[in-house]
Amino acid sequence: MALGEMVGIIGHQWRQPLTSLSIMLEELQVRYHSGELEGATVDDLVGRAQGIIGQLDQTVEDFTRFLYPQSEPGLFQVAEATRMAVNLIEPALVRAGVRVNLAVAPDLSVRGFRNELSQVLLSLLQNVAEAFPSGAHDRQVSIEACRAEQQVRITVSDNAGGIPDAVLPHLFEPYFTTKAAGTGIGLRLAKLLVDRSLGGSISAANGPLGAEFVISLPLATGD
Ligand SMILES: Nc1ncnc2c1ncn2[C@@H]1O[C@H](COP(=O)(O)OP(=O)(O)OP(=O)(O)O)[C@@H](O)[C@H]1O
Ligand SMILES: [Mg+2]
Repeated sequence: MALGEMVGIIGHQWRQPLTSLSIMLEELQVRYHSGELEGATVDDLVGRAQGIIGQLDQTVEDFTRFLYPQSEPGLFQVAEATRMAVNLIEPALVRAGVRVNLAVAPDLSVRGFRNELSQVLLSLLQNVAEAFPSGAHDRQVSIEACRAEQQVRITVSDNAGGIPDAVLPHLFEPYFTTKAAGTGIGLRLAKLLVDRSLGGSISAANGPLGAEFVISLPLATGD
């Protein structure tokens, strides 16, 4: 992979977390000016912001490692990777009015780098935050993970109306986008990480209410 593409990917993965930071700063300002800013709120917001900044920092390291692999992947829990991604993007989802439903089974162990699965989920959730037509009510995204024989199956589904049939075959192509300001990097990155690094597969389809992305990963048994 070219270095230029990697820089594009890092920029892409920084976009929503930066939005989250911006939302938190605004909240701080609004609360201060309305006189309802308490020490505990400041501590909470600053703590969460520092967490996000730490993750941004880590993103650069992660993708550098992807480009120049050195260390061996270990085992990680799907639930942890999910929690990291949701934490990172939650303020942006809240602002977009999207409720997150999590149903991730415990003890789903996978071999690879935890942050890579996190980046995949972040790309999918970024898209969900952007997928709803204006005025859409009851916006929801569900992240489910369970064991399916020797695989872990992770499903990310939304109720934003789905993907047009003409778009479906092109989703994972690099630089394919239907958005005015899109780069088409998100799903290309997701597929790259899932196929090449995590040894699994990713597919997209339409469910009854919206898009449904399914990630299958080999279940790690620990030996
Ligand atoms: N949850 C979804 N619902 C409906 N369409 C989707 C959804 N996720 C992705 N798409 C479609 O897939 C296309 C490609 O997504 P991808 O994340 O690769 O690029 P993008 O979101 O357009 O641009 P970028 O990720 O650079 O902002 C989108 O332009 C959109 O048309
Ligand atoms: Mg995207």
